[in-house]
Amino acid sequence: MAIRSEVKEKYEVGRSEYMWAKKSMPVLNRLTHRFVSKRCLENFNLGICLHITKETSVLLMALKDAGAEVNLCPANPLSIQEPIKSFLIKNGIKIFSKKDDNLLDFYSNMEGVLDTRPHIITDDGGELHKRALYRKYNTMGGTEETTSGVNRLKAWCKEGLLMYPIIAVNRSRTKYLFDNKYGTGQSTIEGILKTTGILLSSKRIVVCGYGWVGRGVARCAIGMGAKVTITEVSPLRALEAFFDGFEVKPLDEVISNADIFITCTGQVNVIGQDQIEKIKDGAILCNAGHFDVEIDINYLNSIDQNHFSPRMNVECYRVGENKKKIYLLAKGRVINLVGAEGNSPEVMSISFANQFLSIVYLSQFHEKLNNKIYKTPKKIERKIILTALDSFGLKIDSLTPQQNHYFKT
Ligand SMILES: NC(=O)c1ccc[n+]([C@@H]2O[C@H](COP(=O)([O-])OP(=O)(O)OC[C@H]3O[C@@H](n4cnc5c(N)ncnc54)[C@H](O)[C@@H]3O)[C@@H](O)[C@H]2O)c1
Repeated sequence: MAIRSEVKEKYEVGRSEYMWAKKSMPVLNRLTHRFVSKRCLENFNLGICLHITKETSVLLMALKDAGAEVNLCPANPLSIQEPIKSFLIKNGIKIFSKKDDNLLDFYSNMEGVLDTRPHIITDDGGELHKRALYRKYNTMGGTEETTSGVNRLKAWCKEGLLMYPIIAVNRSRTKYLFDNKYGTGQSTIEGILKTTGILLSSKRIVVCGYGWVGRGVARCAIGMGAKVTITEVSPLRALEAFFDGFEVKPLDEVISNADIFITCTGQVNVIGQDQIEKIKDGAILCNAGHFDVEIDINYLNSIDQNHFSPRMNVECYRVGENKKKIYLLAKGRVINLVGAEGNSPEVMSISFANQFLSIVYLSQFHEKLNNKIYKTPKKIERKIILTALDSFGLKIDSLTPQQNHYFKT
């Protein structure tokens, strides 16, 4: 009886969270409406690997309401919002994930999704696509949500391994300009605050990588009064960070005196053994990049097997002879999704409108596409931009006939 009421409670919380997100996702709601009423995804099986959050539930319910069969597995073992899972299961979405899944289960959940033989595969990070490619699984097409996933798919495409066309949603301006920058910028800071509760004002923060995510994180951190330094490997982005008003330095020059390090590169071992040894006592490490490879967690685990957790999502490691303390947040996984709730519904509304419309596009035009990586079609991008402007109540000017002809004269 007690268990049943706990399940019901979880479902109710999930439903309420879904409704809360949905009301702030007007772009997705408006753009899916027509397809939902026509049930345009009837008879389509979708294999989806995304973070299981309240915003994702709004996308999944729209796909289901458009007639699709939805098979879902999580994109990260630590970012699962259990009440949302409960809500989705009750609404007929098949979820491949159990509460205490280990890493092996996490990957076999992806195989479970592929076993349902999806017509379209939607992924966040490229792991599901990788498994489909290993199986030489040939289907209508796929979409990819994040930069790291697109980078991997580009590498596989170069080697001629792609078995189906991919729409790289992350390459749409309406995705990275808002989600990666403003969404992840804010939610990364939120994750640090929620896990540590510290004051950011006056802290020395190093943001590694000044791409779309790094720009957003740096902007939010400086807005909270932190002293921000950027590290980069791209000369152009380093120059951009400098012109944006940030201090730009090599990591080795700032490693020993910063309070917080945030990796946002998508690269491996950005903070490795050499850096960890030089970090000051009490420093905090966290990562906003897709995979837990940016900080050398294996090294941390090897030097202090008795590391402990002083609070949720914080691990304390004692390093070197002096036993200096280093705090790792969210086990080096995406801090914004593990330590906080992920990106806000307003930005995910735009990202997931890209996802929904790209899935519908693949369902209709896959036969015209090759096994290549495509951007979200321009027509879809424009529709999303105009709907977003309208839903935020924004009006803009248009060129006069004279201005239209000006360049031709
Ligand atoms: N947490 C989230 O919700 C979320 C959202 C979007 C993207 N991401 C992930 O964040 C990561 C970054 O995404 P992005 O869109 O900003 O990518 P991006 O390609 O725009 O930026 C990455 C930047 O890191 C720099 N870089 C690479 N190696 C570096 C190194 N060793 N030191 C310093 N800088 C280095 C690159 O030059 C580049 O400027 C990816 O893994 C992406 O998948 C996470």
